[in-house]
Amino acid sequence: MNPCGNLVFFVLCLFPGVFSVFSLSLNGKWILSNSNGSLRLPAEVPGCVHSALQKQGYTQDLYFRFSDLTYRWIAFDNWTYTTTFTGAKAKVLLVLDGVDTVSSIWLNGISVGKTDNMFRRYEFPVGALLKDGGNVLNVSFLSPVLYAFERNKAHSAYSVPPACPPDVQKGECHVNFIRKEQRSFSWDWGPSFPSMGLWKGVRLEAFDALQLIQVSSVPLYDFSTSQWRVQVELLVDAVQETNVTVTLSLPELDSEQTFRTRFLPGKTKNSFTLAVNTVLDMQENVLWWPNGHGDQPFYSLTVRGFQDVSLILKTQSKVYFRTVELVQEPIAGSPGLSFYFRINRKPIFLKGSNWIPAHSFQDQVTPAVLTNLLQSAVDANMNTLRVWGGGVYEQDLFYSICDELGIMVWQDFMFACAMYPTDDDFLETVREEVVQQVQRLKSHPSVIIWSGNNENEAALATNWFDIPALQTPTYLKDYVTLYVDNIRAIVQKEDQSRPFLVSSPTNGAESEQEGWVAANPYDPRYGDTHFYSYVPDCWDWRAFPRTRFASEYGFQSWPSFSTLQPVSIKEDWSYDSRFTSHRQHHQDGNQQMLQQAALHFNLPNSTDPLKRYTDTLYITQVMQAQCVKAQTEFYRRSQSELIQGKGHTMGALYWQLNDIWQAPSWSSIEFGGKWKMLHYFAQNFFAAVLPVAFEDDNTLFIYAVSDLNHNLTLRAVVTVYSWTDLDPVCTLESDPLLVRAGSAATVFQQPVEALLAGCGHCTRLTCVLTFHLEDDSGQQGPTNHHFLCPPKDAQGLQRPEVTVQEDETGHTVTVRSASVAPFVWLDVGNVPGRFSSNGFLMVSRNRTVSFNAWRPTSVAELSGSLTVTSLMDVY
Ligand SMILES: *[C@@H]1O[C@H](CO)[C@@H](O)[C@H](O)[C@H]1NC(C)=O
Ligand SMILES: *[C@@H]1O[C@H](CO)[C@@H](O)[C@H](O)[C@H]1NC(C)=O
Ligand SMILES: *[C@@H]1O[C@H](CO)[C@@H](O)[C@H](O)[C@H]1NC(C)=O
Ligand SMILES: *[C@@H]1O[C@H](CO)[C@@H](O)[C@H](O)[C@H]1NC(C)=O
Ligand SMILES: *[C@@H]1O[C@H](CO)[C@@H](O)[C@H](O)[C@H]1NC(C)=O
Ligand SMILES: *[C@@H]1O[C@H](CO)[C@@H](O)[C@H](O)[C@H]1NC(C)=O
Ligand SMILES: *[C@@H]1O[C@H](CO)[C@@H](O)[C@H](O)[C@H]1NC(C)=O
Repeated sequence: MNPCGNLVFFVLCLFPGVFSVFSLSLNGKWILSNSNGSLRLPAEVPGCVHSALQKQGYTQDLYFRFSDLTYRWIAFDNWTYTTTFTGAKAKVLLVLDGVDTVSSIWLNGISVGKTDNMFRRYEFPVGALLKDGGNVLNVSFLSPVLYAFERNKAHSAYSVPPACPPDVQKGECHVNFIRKEQRSFSWDWGPSFPSMGLWKGVRLEAFDALQLIQVSSVPLYDFSTSQWRVQVELLVDAVQETNVTVTLSLPELDSEQTFRTRFLPGKTKNSFTLAVNTVLDMQENVLWWPNGHGDQPFYSLTVRGFQDVSLILKTQSKVYFRTVELVQEPIAGSPGLSFYFRINRKPIFLKGSNWIPAHSFQDQVTPAVLTNLLQSAVDANMNTLRVWGGGVYEQDLFYSICDELGIMVWQDFMFACAMYPTDDDFLETVREEVVQQVQRLKSHPSVIIWSGNNENEAALATNWFDIPALQTPTYLKDYVTLYVDNIRAIVQKEDQSRPFLVSSPTNGAESEQEGWVAANPYDPRYGDTHFYSYVPDCWDWRAFPRTRFASEYGFQSWPSFSTLQPVSIKEDWSYDSRFTSHRQHHQDGNQQMLQQAALHFNLPNSTDPLKRYTDTLYITQVMQAQCVKAQTEFYRRSQSELIQGKGHTMGALYWQLNDIWQAPSWSSIEFGGKWKMLHYFAQNFFAAVLPVAFEDDNTLFIYAVSDLNHNLTLRAVVTVYSWTDLDPVCTLESDPLLVRAGSAATVFQQPVEALLAGCGHCTRLTCVLTFHLEDDSGQQGPTNHHFLCPPKDAQGLQRPEVTVQEDETGHTVTVRSASVAPFVWLDVGNVPGRFSSNGFLMVSRNRTVSFNAWRPTSVAELSGSLTVTSLMDVY
């Protein structure tokens, strides 16, 4: 979106004629030093202090064991980045795309400016300071921990909680006073590494006449005339008033228009609206659709600017056409309002997860890491990720990949789980941050909604921070000032093409009615809900709120041994070790996982300590996968129902997709990209067509859920197995039922007693069910399973003697079993890649699974690494 953004693309901005533009990247090796000069080392830009220290061998692996505590001193020191360069030109700007966070910038010994916000791009005019010979640029960072401390001290009129994170997080205090990635002072799934550095590029931009800073193109649809137009904005820095002829064209759509405009001196935004001549019908395959609902076609937009006959600017970008509406309207038979998204006029159930930063040090989030994680989301049939408000506004590539893959993005602004100050300078830097981020991201069709903050409405409404009632109005006022009067107002001015919510969770329109902070922002009859509950039985759907939209819910698990091994040593490998409790940042988290697992499974009790440890890691993943499956299936089957006014659920985004380090968390993908059992389960529970079973009052129900665009006529096929035998005891079939496009319907219903009575000698303890949907063309969607009792109570569950055999290429394995085996788990240790399916219920003598390796490997390596575990193997 910013073709002149860096050296690589700079060629695009070079035009013959009177004007010339020149860009000098200052990325690469700089010198980094601490405040007393005892450390002086080369440092890469973009980068950060921690990455540089590790790379130069001043620290161990910062994720090794207790490094977050050992190296805490780094963030308390002040650090300076220095570089030298030659070259000079007419109007020269020093552009810093991302500075983390509080710094003063010096060029040849003269102060150029200061920074205080990680989420802004900074530009400083430096032409007058440049020397023909060598120039010295240094950026001096103030310790962010110290800065936050000082800002809090200066804010003496009233406190802005929380002061510090809970002890279990081993973090730093007052992060809400600094516009820096909020989780960098620690979170309940991540370490405290408040780094400093130039985390995005640095360059000099030199030009004689004008420079294009940002281009955006936002398609707008007029529902009354069925016409599209494209709003194009050029953010331009001009040396002097310049009259320009601007031509916008979308050749594939036969649309072109020319405008006369005037670029004024300084930085100005010029807007143009291009009417699209071709009719793009809503139904047709010309629009951008979410994954699973259609393709993601785009059209090239060319912008040219001429002064007289000289071409002075030219840029090309992609335009994707789609509409988005957030529908909040009365529902017949229910108090409350609906809450769902319509894309291209079609109601769509949002399936997916929540995204957190992929590393503590953003310079280590490579394109390969992003691509792998986003592809993993799509491969698990997700269509949505929520970019959560405690991290960063992600890099451009993240959104481009989401555009291409059809991933919808719920974009939070970066405020989370806290009250925030509203001092003038704080508001001012936030305003600039919001303007820049909206301008940068609004051309992406993947972004379907802006949301002001994470959980701050809830924090205020339910008084997380024990604010005395008399003082509440002060905080309410600050809340409205920051998110409504500032952020919302700016977003609505900058972007009319997508909805804005003030918070998540929120009651949406109802919260607005109640003065922006609802009495109960978790009300299931309005807006979205976050819901966590670790102690009650997660297999019991009665405990889940039948919300309109579940934007957060989840359960923790531990990553695999192969992920933990590189950052630990032998003494760490037990569930009682200091390491195990150090890495757990959620109070009582390790105990909660075992308690929840113990409701359904025997806990591993091997006398071999290492086996007991790895078995325990496995059982936490089984527990998590099964819990999130139960909850997600509940939300999907609640799509078409209203029960006591609750239901019409249209979104299920579990917490959380990815990990920031090797530690227990709610993620379905481990640090490094390995899929947990949950992610394999997600592939099934987010399938377009899904059979869901549950019991109500001892009656078994099977629902058919369909996200397809067309109707299906489906019957349920239920197969009953005895735990002891791989031959089914009996098979039942329902009558066919019309299952409409985008709906959930009851396809099978029978009391469990009657079902079992009609099926050999089955009892709840001796048998288990599998079921699938089919029509005349065959099976539709995955095969699912339903346990009739907790597996720990099952009678006849055998040690299945599961064995595996690879084919000659090593890319497929055949799993064999002599009896029914739950949660069969294949693991190839640290060979990166993934299986075609995993964690499954084995109800056949053999099953072939393929392995997709992410780097070259050999049969010998794979078979040397391959292990297989099923439930009975762990006790
Ligand atoms: C310089 O600072 C480092 C890091 O804070 C500290 O460990 C060291 O003792 C200091 N050296 C001197 C000479 O003050
Ligand atoms: C960092 O800078 C601040 C502000 O100038 C100063 O108070 C503090 O002592 C410095 N820290 C170190 C370790 O020199
Ligand atoms: C950065 O430049 C300023 C101004 O020349 C100077 O005071 C400061 O010592 C420099 N810092 C380093 C580490 O070079
Ligand atoms: C630009 O056009 C306007 C209107 O035609 C004219 O008044 C102005 O002088 C022109 N400016 C320049 C720099 O040519
Ligand atoms: C699906 O079936 C319903 C009810 O028979 C019908 O009204 C609707 O038009 C059908 N939809 C499609 C996409 O065929
Ligand atoms: C795999 O199982 C099927 C059905 O149970 C059986 O027909 C087939 O012979 C088995 N294949 C092998 C290689 O054991
Ligand atoms: C481990 O637990 C299982 C299931 O509760 C039990 O049958 C077995 O005897 C236990 N083994 C040990 C060594 O305690």
